[in-house]
Amino acid sequence: MYLILSALTICSNAIAPHVLTQGPFTQPKETLQFKQLLDHSDPANTQTCQQRYHVYSQYFNPIKGGVILYICGEWNCQGVGDNSLPFQLAKDLGAIVIALEHRFYGQSQPFGADSWSLKNLSYSNVHQALDDPAYFILQLKRLKLHKSIALIHQMSLHRYAIGGSYPGALSAWFRYKYPHLTVGNLASIGVINTILDFWQFDDQIRKSTSKSGEQCPLYLQSLNSYVDKNLKNFNTKKAFKESYRYKKMTDNQFKWLWADTIVQMIQSGQRTKFCETLESLPSIEQMAEYLRDIALSRGGSYKQYGAYYLRNETVYQNTIFRQWYFQCCSEVAQLQTTPQNKESLRSYELHQIGGENGAMMLTLRVKQFGQMREQLKPIFEDCI
Ligand SMILES: *[C@@H]1O[C@H](CO)[C@@H](O)[C@H](O)[C@H]1NC(C)=O
Ligand SMILES: *[C@@H]1O[C@H](CO)[C@@H](O)[C@H](O)[C@H]1NC(C)=O
Repeated sequence: MYLILSALTICSNAIAPHVLTQGPFTQPKETLQFKQLLDHSDPANTQTCQQRYHVYSQYFNPIKGGVILYICGEWNCQGVGDNSLPFQLAKDLGAIVIALEHRFYGQSQPFGADSWSLKNLSYSNVHQALDDPAYFILQLKRLKLHKSIALIHQMSLHRYAIGGSYPGALSAWFRYKYPHLTVGNLASIGVINTILDFWQFDDQIRKSTSKSGEQCPLYLQSLNSYVDKNLKNFNTKKAFKESYRYKKMTDNQFKWLWADTIVQMIQSGQRTKFCETLESLPSIEQMAEYLRDIALSRGGSYKQYGAYYLRNETVYQNTIFRQWYFQCCSEVAQLQTTPQNKESLRSYELHQIGGENGAMMLTLRVKQFGQMREQLKPIFEDCI
């Protein structure tokens, strides 16, 4: 269970990492902008940037009430999903909920249209991401930004922080770094460890597929071999790739995409249907077509697998891949690798090329960011 849950934030993942924040978003809210400090590491730097936040005061009870700071991250923070945990807690606690967008996501782009250059992205790191909510809380006490917030200021209510997935880790780290700013934090699926060789992820997925019968993992291995074969054959290769519209991808990037398309079917609770459908199809070609339809139905998410796309620096509010991989490649990586000496759901060819510890993902991703590899350092010890 732990592996499956923690894997929600793994680095090549089109599955919504924001389990706590899935829509619909119909709760009444007020959306505001906060003047955030650009660089918390330099006290002399007074440069500021805009950070978006949403305030939900419908559950606020001034007698018993508290404040829940919802830490957004890894996505365009449109607010807090109606049925999500922060609201359930807010009802119990009579709390106001404030959702703060993470720098470099959605509308909180510190350098506007220039935010995604490599140089400017270097202002995205875990320390800045922890200092943002800390400074935000401290300023809320000082500034009367909002009616309800003025009330909070007068009453010095209990404050809590909450986050899920990568923001879950932020929530846990925040408690260590700023214990005086909250009375309690909730880290849902808090992925606090950097794991460069996370082979257990695929291993667990493979074990899960065998619950749908012995055949299912074998079909999946055959599908990977099928792709390897098509990519090796110079006559079929081009047409094969083009049938997926992923012309800009290298073979290995394509293999990652393919493996993750499988993995996501299992991870998102569709194992039974998926395995049964494979079972019902008469040939490997038809199975591959079925998988292709799934991959194509996922819109633009394939772009996270292609360096060509990740290099694009054009800021676009709904896109998270470039910023997220920047974070994965510099600090918060959980890199799925091919299990060594074990049965794998990923093409065996992928672990031949990765080098160190089979951390193929690392090589692939880091190449996309060039010099980032030099800066790769686990954050954990630094932070706690
Ligand atoms: C970073 O952003 C600033 C402010 O928008 C811009 O002037 C600068 O050119 C950007 N730097 C790079 C390397 O893109
Ligand atoms: C870069 O991204 C923008 C926004 O998503 C898109 O409009 C543009 O076509 C992309 N550029 C290239 C070269 O793919």
